[in-house]
Amino acid sequence: MSNTTSQNQAHISNPVMQTYGRWPVTMVKGEGVWLYDAEGKRYLDFTAGIAVTALGHAHPEIAQAIAEQARTLLHCSNLYHIPGQIELAQKLTELSCCDKVFFCNSGAEAIEGSIKMARRYAYQTYGPHKHEIIAFEHSFHGRTLGALTATCQAKYQEGFGPLVPGFHYAKPGDLASVQSLVSEKTCAILLEPVQGEGGVRPFGQEFLAAIRQLCDEHGILLIFDEVQTGVGRTGTFFAYEQLGVEPDIIALAKGLANGVPIGAVLAKQKIAAVMVPGTHASTFGGNPLATAAGLATVNILLQQGILAHVRETGQYLAGKLQTLADKHPVAQEVRGMGLLVGLTLDRPAGEVVQACLEKGLLLTVAGGNTVRFTPPLVVTKEQIDQAVEILDQVLAKLYQPV
Ligand SMILES: Cc1ncc(COP(=O)(O)O)c(C=O)c1O
Repeated sequence: MSNTTSQNQAHISNPVMQTYGRWPVTMVKGEGVWLYDAEGKRYLDFTAGIAVTALGHAHPEIAQAIAEQARTLLHCSNLYHIPGQIELAQKLTELSCCDKVFFCNSGAEAIEGSIKMARRYAYQTYGPHKHEIIAFEHSFHGRTLGALTATCQAKYQEGFGPLVPGFHYAKPGDLASVQSLVSEKTCAILLEPVQGEGGVRPFGQEFLAAIRQLCDEHGILLIFDEVQTGVGRTGTFFAYEQLGVEPDIIALAKGLANGVPIGAVLAKQKIAAVMVPGTHASTFGGNPLATAAGLATVNILLQQGILAHVRETGQYLAGKLQTLADKHPVAQEVRGMGLLVGLTLDRPAGEVVQACLEKGLLLTVAGGNTVRFTPPLVVTKEQIDQAVEILDQVLAKLYQPV
């Protein structure tokens, strides 16, 4: 068979569009912190579906909540009131500095909603001239056109222009670069408290305080993209709680329903007030199934002491990784918050992630040269020891001179 024919046949046998660089592994089952492939091989999952399955795979109480809701009412449209949606919104507003919630289905949608709300608020409060958004280099906000425009990484934007007008990009940690972009046209500053995909890069507390002050002085809204950092990932429900700065709008998704697609935009009352009927909508957003899974997830997270567990195990993981960094010259820096931790290398991290996968440990690459750890929030110290042991062996095998 010619090469071309076999490529064509591969294309026919897998009709899924090839937008992902997938590892040659097929996952068929999960249990807690473990994933199982089609051949029965077991993996310690330190990806958690990229910071999604916060409570671990196949959590029995979440499964029960989903099954019960599916038997009762799966979907009914936002034409009608949805009790689970109200209850979840109530929880999120109690937990946050925000007053109202809009539900959607993903992180990118939560960013789109945040941008729309900021622009609409500025439009009604100050006029149409005030519509510009300042985002940051190394950011990642999603793949839809608005979120992609906010994502300041050429590799994601290339070939998809023209992008959405009105966006500027500042340098993280460089206040002067932000100040130089601020004008009477600026309506919002958008950032991830810890840049996840960009390489697990936390924004400093001092810098965030200065950004908040700048926003207050110029009537600019501060949007925190907590899609990856939210729902307990950093050891508090929202990362901002540890940073001494309150945002005006928060985008949430990923871990909010432990794997059932959901997103949310949380906003202060004055912003929510401009979002009157007809300004924004989503067919599936906050439907009974997603919000039942979301409620079960948030309740378990809060009632079972998981936030304190994240703070403890996050420190434990960072400490263990620091020991590895001290031992292996290839490893440069450990950074992050809670159970969102990165180990930067002096070279691309793909080789390490691949070798760990072969040894039964799942990790992700972030920002090219960072190995990212986002285990389920229920991970134990023993499981962290196992993961670090595998990584130690891999680093020794790949990079130690013989
Ligand atoms: C911080 C952040 N914002 C937004 C997104 C986009 O989320 P989604 O893939 O659900 O659209 C991601 C996804 O990785 C993210 O990490």
